Amino acid sequence: MKMNKWIIYLVIIILFGCMNQSKHHIDNHAKKDNSQKEKSPSLLSEENILIIAHRGASGYAPEHTIYSYAEGEKMHSDYIEIDLQMTKDGKLIALHDSDVSRTTNSEGEVKDLLYEEIRILDAGSWFNEENPDLAQSVFKNATIPTLEEIFEHFGTNSNYYIETKRPEEYPEMVNQLVETLNKYDLLGEDVPRGKVIIQSFSEDSLRELHELDPSIPLIQLISFNHHARLSQKQIDKIRSYAVGIGPNYQSLSEPFVHNIRDAGLLLHPYTVNKKEDMERLINWGVTGMFTNYPDRLKEVIEETTYLKKEE
Ligand code: G3P
Ligand code: CA
Repeated sequence: MKMNKWIIYLVIIILFGCMNQSKHHIDNHAKKDNSQKEKSPSLLSEENILIIAHRGASGYAPEHTIYSYAEGEKMHSDYIEIDLQMTKDGKLIALHDSDVSRTTNSEGEVKDLLYEEIRILDAGSWFNEENPDLAQSVFKNATIPTLEEIFEHFGTNSNYYIETKRPEEYPEMVNQLVETLNKYDLLGEDVPRGKVIIQSFSEDSLRELHELDPSIPLIQLISFNHHARLSQKQIDKIRSYAVGIGPNYQSLSEPFVHNIRDAGLLLHPYTVNKKEDMERLINWGVTGMFTNYPDRLKEVIEETTYLKKEE
């Protein structure tokens, strides 16, 4: 009988031990999840100053090529910026201009060229000629990438800030963009918010996107002639479909930046390449910038954060 009692005690002790072990495991798991969340707050948090590699790190490598995007990633940019055009046969490609003449060894409007004709163009030699001090022999092999090639190369670890260029000329662009994002697992409930941002000067294009998928964060690009100004009515209208604005930085003033931020909109000016401009805009309260020099912006962010901590 005594022996039986001891066996029961032993079983109880072992059971308690197992339960504790399992609780500890659950606690640790929960802690790990929390710490992961803490380490990766939403990219769109208003506290973040986003480094957007404009056409890639295009100050160092030919714009809109795998080389400039890779350089931007190496410099710890938050986003690869992509300008979208569409070929005659309906392929989405990354190119700023609507024709190929400035950045390739050929000429012609993208909308009049087949992808087969665009695929073989040299999209890097112009950069070597214009920037002998930054020239690299591999740039001669640079091609105009398709959107799919970019996603295949950089995958779901990178973040993309995509502009629909001339969407009125390419009625299929928005649909095809959303399809491609879905195909590469860049949209959906499991994808962190802000993994992809879509920007456009075209309100219609943004509204079309908003209707297709209201969860995609949108940025209304604006080119102000002189001083940036938006009425409360205009701000409210933008707020109904977009999370922020992307204005030309030269037009900005401190009160305008405060006004936009007070309205709860993000503010990503383009294209800021000088450190003194970056510093001023950060002090005014912008939430990110497009730059051809992501390394400079990273340095300025680190310097200003350090100075703020010291105060
Ligand atoms: O997309 C922001 C900025 O890139 C707009 O200017 O002409 O360089 O596309 P652009
Ligand atoms: Ca752009």
